[in-house]
Amino acid sequence: MKGVVLAGGSGTRLHPITQAVSKQLLPVFDKPMIYYPLSVLMLAGIREILVISTPTDLPLFKRLLGSGEQFGVTFEYAEQAAPNGLAEAFVIGKDFIGEDDVALVLGDNIFYGQGFSKTLQQKATELDGCVLFGYPVKDPERYGVGEVDASGKLLSIEEKPETPKSNKAITGLYFYDNEVVDIAANLKPSKRGELEITDVNLTYLKQGRAELVELTRGFAWLDTGTHDSLLEAGQFVQVLEHRQGVRIACLEEIALRMGFITADECYALGEKLAKSGYGEYVMAVAKGQI
Ligand code: DAU
Repeated sequence: MKGVVLAGGSGTRLHPITQAVSKQLLPVFDKPMIYYPLSVLMLAGIREILVISTPTDLPLFKRLLGSGEQFGVTFEYAEQAAPNGLAEAFVIGKDFIGEDDVALVLGDNIFYGQGFSKTLQQKATELDGCVLFGYPVKDPERYGVGEVDASGKLLSIEEKPETPKSNKAITGLYFYDNEVVDIAANLKPSKRGELEITDVNLTYLKQGRAELVELTRGFAWLDTGTHDSLLEAGQFVQVLEHRQGVRIACLEEIALRMGFITADECYALGEKLAKSGYGEYVMAVAKGQI
């Protein structure tokens, strides 16, 4: 399975912070926002990743992430000329995806919870059609919303409905088989002129090949869409990291634990950042002290 991180958009809801800096490069406590969705792909075992962003911001992502070799993965980069919708990721990423399955994650989505890595790897291996991840929220009208029956079978999906049929938001992480490339290529823009991910998901739903995995209340799916929620996400990460002495979405640590790099390579990555607590943590992880 290949991975795509969509990190474009105009970030208007966070102006003026995002007037000069891409939203997905903003800090969420101790690391750039994009580390969190990248960690999800790496925890799923994905090693070939395409980062899509605006023509202006893409060079900054390249500067931050490089070739991926340092993490034992490959990063490729592609431009999205304008925010034409989430499903455009599969049009832009067609050649990169080739014949493979693909996971799409939005560059501003933060996930944290026990057993997530195992769930991701299992769902990636068993994939038939598409897998969506649902999360209970108090304001479902702000999101894609999934309705399920008593057995957990997905019945409907609606994008930002005025009257949501459930409290299950569809998060910004999606697993698809290769058919998604054809589905996206044949999509018509919606009323707001975008290639909607919800229309892709509805195509799979009609085929009876859409599964909703429910992330339960013990799990955290954090919002970064407003000034308050961005700060709260940073505080959530800070509290957990301080309390437990471990770091969330530390790409060096994940690369080591997934077997993508050796302990020596991990240590060398930590040394380069040694002046920060983050670098010290990476060195301690490499030495087996955490
Ligand atoms: O976060 C989950 C939600 O993401 C889902 O529940 C919705 O079904 C889905 O449509 C999407 O809703 P948003 O309102 O968050 O979509 P937004 O247009 O804000 O885009 C999400 C992120 O993707 C944002 O950081 C900007 C980026 N983006 C967006 C568009 C439309 C792109 O990189 N390119 C784009 O063309």
